[in-house]
Amino acid sequence: MELNRSRFITFEGIDGCGKSTQAKLLMETLNNEGCKTVLVREPGGTRVSEAVREILLTKGMDELEHRTEALLMTASRAQLTDEVILPNLDNGNWVIADRFADSTLAYQGGGRSLDVEWLIKLNDYATAGLTPDLTVFVDIMPEEGQRRREANNPDRIEKAGVDFQQKVRKMYHVIAKRFAERIFVVDGHETIENIQRNIWQEITRRYFL
Ligand code: ADP
Ligand code: TYD
Repeated sequence: MELNRSRFITFEGIDGCGKSTQAKLLMETLNNEGCKTVLVREPGGTRVSEAVREILLTKGMDELEHRTEALLMTASRAQLTDEVILPNLDNGNWVIADRFADSTLAYQGGGRSLDVEWLIKLNDYATAGLTPDLTVFVDIMPEEGQRRREANNPDRIEKAGVDFQQKVRKMYHVIAKRFAERIFVVDGHETIENIQRNIWQEITRRYFL
């Protein structure tokens, strides 16, 4: 197995699709293969970004404007990029992100109907142009996502319901087509083990063969 540089891999999908499960499994696999790997999640992952996350998700701020939401999501991303993602990539580590820039396109673009071209520019500014090497889009039907989340407490965005998740999913499909080289779509309805195998096959095909 050959390895000559670090990689940045992001996981995307609607709420409850199973991406956190897969992100963690991939981190463990890569670490077992000797690729030092760190896992981050958005919004959050730094002191500043966790404070922003509180405003976005847990403080019950229902009056938040959609543009404000987009700016706070990307503010959290800017801090995480500079403080954690870029330094780790520079040190030769792999970085896995549980959500990144595509979440803003899907949720604030698809879900909240903000202009996607503006959001792409905003993401670019927030990430200083950093683009993932690979994005895994775990695709499931909104009803299934809701079933899987039923046990948990919904946060402000998750509370928006199945219609909202449907709009988000639609936009994920649009961006998966637009950035087809970078985005790998997996069927999230399969078993955890099958999904894990499909993702690992794609990664070995791209980087280790
Ligand atoms: P997300 O991070 O996308 O919100 P999680 O990985 O936290 O989703 O998974 C949500 C719930 O669904 C968890 O209880 C998890 O164990 C379960 N789950 C994850 N993947 C699958 C799967 N492929 N099939 C059935 N249940 C799953
Ligand atoms: P989280 O509890 O991390 O959920 P999940 O396990 O589904 O990732 O909540 C993150 C929520 O924030 C989720 O509903 C998606 C939303 N979000 C956006 O709306 N825009 C963004 O740019 C990001 C990163 C997340």
